[in-house]
Amino acid sequence: MIAYLDGVFLPLSDARVSVLDRGFVFGDGVYEVVPVYSRRPFRLDEHLRRLQHSLDGIRLANPHGVEVWRSIVGELIARQDFADQSVYLQVTRGVAPRDHAFPRGVAPTVFLYAQPLIPATAEQKAAGVCAITAPDPRWQHCDIKAISLLANVLMRQRAVDAGCAETVMLRDGLLTEGAASNIFVVKDGLLRTPAPSPHMLTGITYDVVLELAAAHGIPARVGDVTEAELRAADEVWMTSSTKEIMPVIQLDGVPVGGGVPGPLARQMDALYQQFKHAVMRA
Ligand code: PDD
Repeated sequence: MIAYLDGVFLPLSDARVSVLDRGFVFGDGVYEVVPVYSRRPFRLDEHLRRLQHSLDGIRLANPHGVEVWRSIVGELIARQDFADQSVYLQVTRGVAPRDHAFPRGVAPTVFLYAQPLIPATAEQKAAGVCAITAPDPRWQHCDIKAISLLANVLMRQRAVDAGCAETVMLRDGLLTEGAASNIFVVKDGLLRTPAPSPHMLTGITYDVVLELAAAHGIPARVGDVTEAELRAADEVWMTSSTKEIMPVIQLDGVPVGGGVPGPLARQMDALYQQFKHAVMRA
C-alpha cells in the first residue's frame, strides 16, 4: 500500500510522523474517507467541500486548493495495485511542543493512504445487521469530521460487544446518528432522517440517498426523529461511504418491522448501485 505524507508518496510501512504531531497528542485534526470504485473516486468534490467545512470548524487553513487535492488523490489511487479503494485523508495541525493553544508558523501534517474497499455482499445486505441504542455522549460539533473519535470508538465497540454492527445514538430523546454512519428510518412508506445539525455529520452517502429519493419519487422528510418513532419504524438503515446502505433488522434485540430488510432498503440499494455505476462510467 502506498501512502502520501507531506508531499511524498512512499510505502505505508515507511510513513513516519513525529510523536509531537498534534494529531497524536491532542487528536487535533480532521479527516475524510472517500470510496473509490474501479479507480474512480466517488463524490470527491463533495468530500473536499466537507473537508473545508471541517478545517474551518477547527480554524486550520486548508494546506491545498481543490486542484492540488484532486491530483494528490488521483496519484494515490493510481499508485495502488487494487482498483476498489477506501482513501483515508487526514490533516492535523502539525508538529509542535505540547501546548493546547495553536502553535504559530507550523505546517499542517497531510497524510493519505488507500486500503482495499470491500463493500457488503448481496448476502450481507439481504441478511441485514443488528444495532443497539445509547445516549449520544459527544460534543456539540459533530458536523466537524474530527480525528478525535474516542466517543465514536467507544460507541462502536459497545455494538461489537453486543454482537451488533452499530450503535444508534439518541440525544434528548431524538435520533442523531450511528457511531460511524447516518441513520434513516421508514414508516408507512415515508423515508425520514434527522436534518443536518451540529449534532451529526452530514454524510456524503446521506446526501446521495436523499437525492435519489427526490429523483425517484420516494417520499422523504428531513427533520427530528424521536426515540419512539425510531423504535416504531418499519425499516431502519445505516448509511456510510464504506457500508453504503445497510438494513438494520434488530434494534436492542427487538425486530425492526418484520425483522428482515424492508422493500425500501432494497429499492434504495438498487438505485444507489445504479447511480454509482453511472457515475463510474461517465
Ligand atoms: N465515517 N456519521 C459519522 C459519525 C461517520 O463517521 C460517518 C462516516 C458518517 C457517514 O458519512 P459518509 O456517508 O460521508 O461516509 C456519518 C467514515 C466512513 C469513517 O469514519 O470511517
